[in-house]
Amino acid sequence: MRARIFGLLDPASHAHAARRVRVLEILLILIGISSVSAGTVGGVSPAARAVAAAVTGIVAVLFFVEYLVRLWVAPENPRLQSATEARSRLRWVVSAEGVIDLLAVIPALAVASGGARLGAESASVFALLWVLKLATHAPGVELIARVFHNERSALAASLALFVIVLFSAATIAHWLEGERQPEHFGSIPASLWWAVVTLTTTGYGDVVPQSAPGRVLGGVVMLCGISVLALLAGILASGFAKEVRRREFVRIWQLVARVPFFSGVGAIAIADIVGRLRSRSYPAGAVVIRKGAAGDSMFFIVAGEVEVRIGARTRALRDGDFFGEMALLDRKPRSADVITVTPCTVLVLDVADFYQLAGGQPALIAAIEEEAKRRRADDRRADSS
Ligand code: CMP
Repeated sequence: MRARIFGLLDPASHAHAARRVRVLEILLILIGISSVSAGTVGGVSPAARAVAAAVTGIVAVLFFVEYLVRLWVAPENPRLQSATEARSRLRWVVSAEGVIDLLAVIPALAVASGGARLGAESASVFALLWVLKLATHAPGVELIARVFHNERSALAASLALFVIVLFSAATIAHWLEGERQPEHFGSIPASLWWAVVTLTTTGYGDVVPQSAPGRVLGGVVMLCGISVLALLAGILASGFAKEVRRREFVRIWQLVARVPFFSGVGAIAIADIVGRLRSRSYPAGAVVIRKGAAGDSMFFIVAGEVEVRIGARTRALRDGDFFGEMALLDRKPRSADVITVTPCTVLVLDVADFYQLAGGQPALIAAIEEEAKRRRADDRRADSS
């Protein structure tokens, strides 16, 4: 029971139910932040304010319950495993997630201990805590942190460039504009404000160079700003794409390991195959393949069961089996309907990748062809009987 609940709350889980729990949690956080924000708007009727306070209270209480549940299931977390359950729980309590989750439940404790007034007064502070909670639970936040970590040396180099341009701009602006506008450019630290606002291309316009050389400097700093920001954006975008690809590769690799069909394939060939596969999940009763449709991909079952319907006959295919290969091999429309019997996770190989793989991995395609031959014979036998 505890392991199952941990499975639902595990941020790394890709299971349907866990995803739903995550969406629900994010919705709850957004509702909480909205109700806290609504409570700070002036001129709202007392009734509306009371509704906002009630919603805030309910969300806070739910977070309190969630905190207790997370504390209870902490020993199931493999990253927190310790000698005793109490130690695992303690490790969770002092982790970043545990601390933020604890801070997020303070509204409930404030309302319970200090009454509604204290709760309402402190509520706006908790909007900030709930935003932090959103940061720990929203998908992708951890991914962004990892990208910053991976790209730290490139980011540090572009940041150093930013600082060099910033100080050069502030110093030159001080020389050029210091006498005309001593209040804004009288010292290098004073000029830094203009340099930051110009270099980041924000341009509030509160401080403007007045001499012609000062304006030329302004133009140059703006261009430098665009270049440095473009460099930063490029580093982050490529780092993000690299990390997403790496994670997807590892995830598909783990799924491929569960398909016995690939067990005899060597590591280099597997790497080639993994790069071409995508995972897809279906609920029970979903039509994966419709008879007569054009064949654009084939499927490997990682988990679950499907039913192949060839006229009145059916064939069951389970974990480790594949289907949808005949249309690709014969270049004909689909020969049967394929419908999921249980929720299924499958790996999809697109037709273009199938043919490329046929060139690079002939043994693999030969094994698929062998099975297709057996199935065609089976279908013919059944047709004739
Ligand atoms: P395709 O024709 O592309 O689409 C329907 C799929 O059902 C087919 O490929 C095979 O993968 C599968 N199929 C057809 N006949 C059988 C059979 N007799 N046993 C198992 N699977 C089959």
